[in-house]
Amino acid sequence: MVMKDYLSLAETAELIGKSKETLRRWDNEGILSAVREPVSNYRVYLKEDVENLLGNLFDGEIEDGVSNYVEPFQEYSVLELFAGAGGLAVGMEKAGLKCVALNEIDKWACETLRTNRPNWNVLEGDIKEFDFSKYRNAVDVVTGGFPCQAFSYAGKKLGLNDARGTLFYEFARVVKEVNPPICIGENVRGLLSHEKGKTLEGMISILDEIGYKVVPVKVLKAINYRVPQKRERLILVGVRKDIDIPYKYPKKHNKIYNLKDALRKGELFEKNVPKSDGAKYPEYKKEILDLIPQKGYWRDLPLNLQKEYMGGSFYLGGGKTGMARRIGWDEPCLTLTCSPAQKQTERCHPDETRPFTVREYARIQTFPDDWKFSGSIAQQYKQIGNAVPVNLGQELGYSVIKFLNEYNKTMKK
Ligand SMILES: C[S@@+](CC[C@H](N)C(=O)[O-])C[C@H]1O[C@@H](n2cnc3c(N)ncnc32)[C@H](O)[C@@H]1O
Repeated sequence: MVMKDYLSLAETAELIGKSKETLRRWDNEGILSAVREPVSNYRVYLKEDVENLLGNLFDGEIEDGVSNYVEPFQEYSVLELFAGAGGLAVGMEKAGLKCVALNEIDKWACETLRTNRPNWNVLEGDIKEFDFSKYRNAVDVVTGGFPCQAFSYAGKKLGLNDARGTLFYEFARVVKEVNPPICIGENVRGLLSHEKGKTLEGMISILDEIGYKVVPVKVLKAINYRVPQKRERLILVGVRKDIDIPYKYPKKHNKIYNLKDALRKGELFEKNVPKSDGAKYPEYKKEILDLIPQKGYWRDLPLNLQKEYMGGSFYLGGGKTGMARRIGWDEPCLTLTCSPAQKQTERCHPDETRPFTVREYARIQTFPDDWKFSGSIAQQYKQIGNAVPVNLGQELGYSVIKFLNEYNKTMKK
């Protein structure tokens, strides 16, 4: 363990201004998780986690009894690009927006959308092949989680045409064609540092060129929006320049949900998670994970097995607390990936030595139990792992409705 990356319990308590007892409780509740220093077994904290939490504590947005719910003044419509299995779309629908069309290239994801919502207009195929001008001025918000790609720069401010060939170009092209009051892009946190920030800067300047002012970009933590998972999503909001109404991100909720809330009857779901198919660990991985306690990870193995399992990574230092990880019932799940048995990102079930089943995966992403996924088990995991958590989508949906209500008020004056 490289100790300069970690803080002791006392240092963390001092920095955050809370007692050690509170920090121990926060560890159990998953608000700020500690790891164990291998020799002493004392709790230590990843500096980065403490800094992130400090950022959250002091940005003044935490309120009691938080609700972002808002009733739409009229029916608002959304055009969803890169729709996947519909995490964001279902969230928007739950908030009260109507999906006028969804574009997606993957045949299994399209089948998922059609199976669950036979009335949705699913446009299957490469976004490049579709002309959206028939939706011009007829859609209130265009949304999309465009896959992140590098641009090639000619050394000047990036314009729309310089981005040709990328999927962000397609996102911006559709926004330009459709001309909605507001557009929302979502992406991974990594976009902030992609090409040292130049990719994001380029996206902002392209949106500016096509007539959209970008709201300061934020990375939202799903745990703050009724999602029992430590997932993060970067949100890029553009407001059409003729509209002088501020967009406000949804307020954070106070309550942090954990794995128990995801899989058992409770506030998030009305019954225990239904049985379903799921992947298995290969025998070797199962033998390793059998040795790991709840909330433990590779550090909990005997030293010889730590070295064997981690290979070269063992000597690289750092936490890698996601490797050979068994999730605890009383913490939010770590970010789910597109494949549940993938090396370096094992998220083992708390009581049984197996990955989460498809339905458990869907629950952790807050999909409703009646949302069916099409394709092989691997395809289903992929669709779920790619999604924006439904509850996060719903909270974003409320923030859009709030903005549109304000906009419509000014239009009627
Ligand atoms: C991160 S996922 C989006 C997840 C979705 N927002 C959700 O919440 O479920 C990105 C999606 O873009 C789709 N995609 C990639 N290239 C595409 C293209 N050229 N045209 C249309 N869709 C594409 C992928 O198949 C994938 O489902």
